Amino acid sequence: MEHNRLLIKNAKALVGTHPAGIGRVAGAAMRDLPQVANGWVMAEDGRITAVGDADSWPGINDWNGLEVIDATDRYVLPGWCDPHTHTVFAAWREGEFVDRIQGLSYQEIAAKGGGILNSAKRLRGMDEDTLFTQAKARLEGMMQQGTVAVEIKSGYGLDLESELMMLRVVKRLKEALPLQVRATLLAAHALPPEFKEDRTAYVDLIVDQLIPRVAREGLAQYVDCFCETNYFTVAEMERILQAGAAHGLPGKVHVNQFTSIGAIPAAVAHGALSVDHLEVMEPGDIQALAGTETIPTLLPSCSFFLGIPYGPARQLIEAGTAVALATDFNPGTTPGGNMNFVVSLGCIKLRMLPEEAVHAATINAAAAMDLGHELGSITPGKRASFIISKPVPSLAFLPYAFSQDHIDTVIIDGRIVRAGEALH
Ligand code: NIG
Ligand code: FE
Repeated sequence: MEHNRLLIKNAKALVGTHPAGIGRVAGAAMRDLPQVANGWVMAEDGRITAVGDADSWPGINDWNGLEVIDATDRYVLPGWCDPHTHTVFAAWREGEFVDRIQGLSYQEIAAKGGGILNSAKRLRGMDEDTLFTQAKARLEGMMQQGTVAVEIKSGYGLDLESELMMLRVVKRLKEALPLQVRATLLAAHALPPEFKEDRTAYVDLIVDQLIPRVAREGLAQYVDCFCETNYFTVAEMERILQAGAAHGLPGKVHVNQFTSIGAIPAAVAHGALSVDHLEVMEPGDIQALAGTETIPTLLPSCSFFLGIPYGPARQLIEAGTAVALATDFNPGTTPGGNMNFVVSLGCIKLRMLPEEAVHAATINAAAAMDLGHELGSITPGKRASFIISKPVPSLAFLPYAFSQDHIDTVIIDGRIVRAGEALH
């Protein structure tokens, strides 16, 4: 990489200026979001080198090749991290959206051949290049909306070759785009029709063939399973988590979206990195997470879109967990990857304070991809990936005025990926 130096100065505030060594923020601490008023931040070769306020400004000796951004009246935030998406897919499913308006539920649509199996049918007939090109455009849109790191799942292939193809597409996306990309094997997303009579054989295929191969080829860093009534059982998820762990792939699992069937205690017992969705929770599910490292990741834009309950963010914070937020971008339950909207819903529907929602969408979301020491706060040593806002009256204004675009500039690893007015 050619030498690259950046100075952002005069910020109304730098937001999330945690000291070095912090990789997540849990429980009551989530409401204490450190900020530096009238701040500046320096970055070199993609990393933050120094942070301070006007009184600690050291001056600049060498202006050579220095990109200077004047953030007067603007907030500088760590870029959003989105730790749960399905951004590689073949086709949108707006027909199901209309079916739901007319009264069908997500489960009823799936039972009549829609849903995940519908997406799998479309994907299996598609070539790798087209999948790549479409997903790339989606991710470019997400970067414009401030996302600097993303997790992407397979799960619309549902056979060996198609699952591998999806993960190869994710690998190409990672190479083609500046944002951080993490890949998750979600072969256990729905039972493919070929295995209708022998579900054990499909889990065998995942455990005996896909997981070892994906681990060997470095095609994914995590395993996932849609553990849910009519999808995969707790025992099947446990087999997958166990095989994943044996191959160095921790779990990030879909649990408690529609029913509570004991998936959370099981996932925690297997050391899952995150448990995601959590719309339907029993008290024991929250207790199972308290005092553990497993990150509860809430997906409020999925609840918004499907009209299902919202995850219990307040209770999870009270239980001392490091709640994260993600979009769940996919054609069936969240047809968009806008983290700004998710942060707004975090405040409006989950009753998180703006400071809590920012933590959930930055450092905790980063932690849910093992990136908590790389991203998610404005800290020397971390990646220089930021959002610079338009001039706004307060930090709370960002989630409050939920349908406006508050972003002026987006920077990933010290490079401008969305150029706004602060540049001039
Ligand atoms: O996270 N619930 C499982 N998976 C996705 C939806 C997948 C789909 O409908 O295509 C989700 O909501
Ligand atoms: Fe999902």
